[in-house]
Amino acid sequence: MASDFSQYQRLLDQPIQVKVDALRRGSRPRHVLFAHQFDRRYLERVGRTAEEIRILSRASASANDVRDLLSHKRAMLYFTQTSTRTFLSFLAACQLLGLSTAEIRDPSISSEYKGESRLDSIRMFSSYSDLIIMRDASPQFAECCAYLMDDIERASQRSVPIINGGSGADEHPTQALLDVFTIQRSFGLHGPLDTDAADRFQALRDRFGVEPGLENKTYTFVGDIGRGRTVRSLCILLSNYSGITCRFVSPPREHLQLDPWLRAFLKDKGVEVSEHDSLDEVIEDSDVVYMTRIQREHDTSATSQPTTDELGACQLTEELVQRMPAGAIIMHPFPRNEEIPTSIDHDERVMYFHQARNGMWIRAALIANVCDVDRDVSEIFESYTGDRKAYAQVH
Ligand code: CP
Repeated sequence: MASDFSQYQRLLDQPIQVKVDALRRGSRPRHVLFAHQFDRRYLERVGRTAEEIRILSRASASANDVRDLLSHKRAMLYFTQTSTRTFLSFLAACQLLGLSTAEIRDPSISSEYKGESRLDSIRMFSSYSDLIIMRDASPQFAECCAYLMDDIERASQRSVPIINGGSGADEHPTQALLDVFTIQRSFGLHGPLDTDAADRFQALRDRFGVEPGLENKTYTFVGDIGRGRTVRSLCILLSNYSGITCRFVSPPREHLQLDPWLRAFLKDKGVEVSEHDSLDEVIEDSDVVYMTRIQREHDTSATSQPTTDELGACQLTEELVQRMPAGAIIMHPFPRNEEIPTSIDHDERVMYFHQARNGMWIRAALIANVCDVDRDVSEIFESYTGDRKAYAQVH
């Protein structure tokens, strides 16, 4: 494994902006590795494509047209770290666009068991597929795979895009995409083709005067802030917007608290940052409450354990939910443990099940963009909805 990384150490050590610039192919990403790759314009574009795919998927004729777009392509799903939502939503996203899929989830039944290096395995996947979507426990492994693909592209050999579906405790850029899409939808206007669920968000907005969009909002992140890759990736995306306040609530243990790099990054981007050890202090002043579980799988015997009271102060209760603003929303990347009681699942502010479904639409939109068919999606959308301008004006 060490050799997998060492051959790319010089590239891995580059500043993030140099890496992001190198990943750009015109207006498209060659590989999707970091949340830093998505600026506001890109977020709006991919969100629009996701909406189009969502609406087109309601009827068989339009869904079939979308499914034709990439029916000649194949995707490899290489998920060696556990996953339910990311794996299944990428699989469903491929199905929406017509891609055939293959998968490895247990490398012990692949030739890795016989000593094949993981980079050799990735190169083999590129022989059979047009896109590799991967999740791995090692931070930076997806990045190394992208550099391998760039190497073989320079040698004029077959090379395919890599999409990072979660890399160690490091990055989860596509979770951040679906989170932003969920916030866009929750605080968005809606068009004449939209659903009852969207009408419900609109009604909340009308009743409680919630301002549309992601700007000028207070985001409260709760739980395992220090080791949560979803929190880090979403905060990076939120820094694209103005008027953002981020509150971080975690038990008072260093490994669970905001890491200095993210604190400095957000402050540099003009985000107002505050840190707390109790949700009670900030619940009435939050537009978005983003809960996360304590990621005990990263603990070692030396890890300092929070007390029951410290953990309890970072859990949502029915009483706390009652004190939330009526137009606020509750998010969670899931899986959840004890930090959210199931008794609040039917509250209209709960978005975590919408989040999971939104992952399918936004990942389909991302694949459409990477594979250069997002404009075709828009053309199909126009052909079915006719007056796209009217839709766009209200959306
Ligand atoms: N949110 C998320 O990444 O879920 P999975 O681990 O189930 O993919």
